Amino acid sequence: MPIDIDAVRSAYPALTEGYCHFDGAAGTLVAEPVAAAVAGVLRAAVANRSTAFAPGRRAVEIVDEARAAVADLVGGAAGGVVFGSSATSLTYLVSRTLGRSWGPGDEVVVTRLDHDANVRPWIQAAERAGATVRVADVDLATGTLPTANVTGLINERTRLVAVTAASNAIGSRPDVPAIAAAARAVGALCYVDGVHATPHQPTDIGTLGADFYVTSAYKWSGPHIAACVAAPELWASLRPEKLNPSSDASPDRFEHGTPSFELLAGVTAAVEHLASLDPAATGTRRERLLGSLAAAQAYEMALFEKLVAGLAAIDGVTMLPAPADRAPTVAFRIDGQHPTATSEALGEQGICAFAGDYYAFEYFTAMGLRDSGGAVRASVYHYTGEGDVDRLVTALQGLARRPL
Ligand SMILES: Cc1ncc(COP(=O)(O)O)c(C=O)c1O
Repeated sequence: MPIDIDAVRSAYPALTEGYCHFDGAAGTLVAEPVAAAVAGVLRAAVANRSTAFAPGRRAVEIVDEARAAVADLVGGAAGGVVFGSSATSLTYLVSRTLGRSWGPGDEVVVTRLDHDANVRPWIQAAERAGATVRVADVDLATGTLPTANVTGLINERTRLVAVTAASNAIGSRPDVPAIAAAARAVGALCYVDGVHATPHQPTDIGTLGADFYVTSAYKWSGPHIAACVAAPELWASLRPEKLNPSSDASPDRFEHGTPSFELLAGVTAAVEHLASLDPAATGTRRERLLGSLAAAQAYEMALFEKLVAGLAAIDGVTMLPAPADRAPTVAFRIDGQHPTATSEALGEQGICAFAGDYYAFEYFTAMGLRDSGGAVRASVYHYTGEGDVDRLVTALQGLARRPL
């Protein structure tokens, strides 16, 4: 069933402030049940984890529930969900852990489509190990990552392939299943950055073939915390750096220090919120998530097409190339305007859209646009309204007419 946009928007109290949000790729607003869950934990008797007394048992439950929620969201096992403060910190953790077993002669493959969070940690881990890094190029004219550009770099020496499920700059989605299969065929692991993809489509890490899948809750209506999901047996085979007295159980041994119980409760609430986007979706939470995210994707893509058509019709707006089948994110520049000036002029009109490289460092470097300010980015999310798109297009029509 199509989502009811008015009902969806009413779940986001911050929308009443009246801003027009095209900044979801940098972080979405938080749904009311998420804010309530976070505040609820902060107000309640929740102790550190313990089985001895009820407030300690509540903390245990909060962690277990959050693991189960993320597992439902991405199609993994609850025992394979590791939480961390951000996708970046989790990727550093996994790269440092895996990198300890690499040596000269081993190879790692990264791509120029990826956010730097899925590039630099691997390069640095490879450098420490004396391993070789191979970098897959983007086809800049189409904004795609041709599968052969990645698989052509994979060989018997490859230990890890790091690839994004969707570009946070231009939305394009590589063929992750084909890339992961090529990695698996030579015994390499595939680390998939799902930060930009997860909010915009149903996710199944089994179908993707991802050995690791990282996602950040603040990109899908949740709080600032992230999760990395892998098979429990894979985590169990790895030894991270850790404190002597901290739990040696897996996946707990990958989570350093005391978890943020309030944010974990927010994660569960965010997943419940996503599962409720299509009120007609029924079945298990996993089934409701698949139905609701498919409905949200259909809604977002219809609106995104309207946005792209609106931008295409403005003289002086140039969109960076990307395929039609992408996450609903577009990067563009107004001829003769610095992207930051465009972003600030939009900001004066209450329209939130980032300018820069958004850490898609390799992509913007390859495009030759980093030194001149990158591009403005507009990202549609399930709470974006048609009125928001009209407001952005009208504002850009005005800005394209005057030099800044
Ligand atoms: C595609 C992608 N990967 C990774 C990250 C980094 O996420 P975090 O802020 O959780 O480290 C971002 C953040 O914008 C992103 O968009």
